[in-house]
Formats: sequence, structure tokens, C-alpha cells
Amino acid sequence: ARILVLISGSGSNLQAIIDASQESQYPGDVIGVISNKADAYGLVRAENAAIPHSVLSHKSFASREEYDNALIEMINGYQPDLIVLAGFMRILTENFVNTFSGKLLNIHPSLLPKYQGLNTHQRAIDAGDDTHGVSVHFVTEELDGGPVILQAKVPVFPEDTAELLAQRVHEQEHRIYPLVVSWFCSGRLKMENDKAWLDNTV
Ligand code: GRF
Repeated sequence: ARILVLISGSGSNLQAIIDASQESQYPGDVIGVISNKADAYGLVRAENAAIPHSVLSHKSFASREEYDNALIEMINGYQPDLIVLAGFMRILTENFVNTFSGKLLNIHPSLLPKYQGLNTHQRAIDAGDDTHGVSVHFVTEELDGGPVILQAKVPVFPEDTAELLAQRVHEQEHRIYPLVVSWFCSGRLKMENDKAWLDNTV
């Protein structure tokens, strides 16, 4: 299957998926990377892995709708089977989400439905949670609200900072995102009626 990854920053999840996809049994290939930021380090990762990549800056568009329409065209140029949002820091229009419905995955650094939106690690600390984590979900019109596919939990320690907690969560992100992507690529995972369906036989 053809995997397209959308990023805005460091791209450590992109790297985890590239690394996994280079294993001989992996059922997908990262065929492209798109960033909305020209200085995203993830573009260097794509370059190093000889993966085609493009930048589409939101700054040259007057509205979210126009940007998303241009992004849809660029994505279609890659002919992906799956679009993986990996730290793509953009709110997506309804039209965009509907265009790729059932083919859009996101990773969000909280145990959804807790802490949708930003600053999730600090919010978990401030709330006194003893457990935090990360969720991979299908993208629907509701921001960080689509059906959850897989979560990983981490402990929150009394002396934690947001940075320490983020690092702990990141390790889990790199474990679960390539796994969920592989399920999708091998046809074991689908979105049906806004629910995640997984063939869980091994
Ligand atoms: C991750 O924490 C992810 O959960 C969030 O954005 C961050 C991306 O990190 N959606 P990276 O660019 O993959 O290193």
C-alpha cells in the first residue's frame, strides 16, 4: 500500500514509520511526505530516505478552504492508499476530511477522549493524572474526535515535567503508529459508519 505522511515538524513518527516500512514483511511503503513548513526537520528525514517530498505553505493562501483544496490536489498527485498525519499542525476543513474519509489516520498525545487539542502533557500533569498516553485514531470532522484504534499508556511520576512526559509518550508513539499503519495497509483495519473495524485474528 502507498503511504503518504503529512508533517509540520520533527517527524520522529515519520521516521518510525519509514524504519518499519523498510522491513521486508511490512505491507506498505512511504511514497511521499508533505509539510506545511519549509523548515520541518521531517523533510530532511524524507530526503535521507530518498522519499519524494513537497512543501505547501499555508501562508500563501487566503483561507483555510483554499489551502485545503490545494493540499487535496497535491495529495492526489501522490495517489496514496493511506494518509498519515504525523504532527501535522493544521485544523482540517470538513471538505478535506470528507474527501479522504476512511483513509486518514492521526496520532494524538493523550488518552482520548481526554485532552483533545494542545498542551496535552501539561494538562495531564496539572490534573494530577497518574496515567497518560497516546491514541491513534481515524480522522473525522470532529477535531481529535474520530474513532480510536489503539492507545498506549505511560505512568505520570510526581516529579514529571511536560518535557519528560512527552519523551515517555513519544517512545510509545513510535511503537504503536507503525503498527496501526501496517494493519491498515494489510486490509485488517477500516473505518465503517464512523467506527474503527479491526480484524484481530493473528
Ligand atoms: C507527536 O507528539 C504527535 O502525537 C503529535 O505531534 C507530535 C509529532 O511529533 N500529533 P513528531 O513530529 O512525529 O516527532
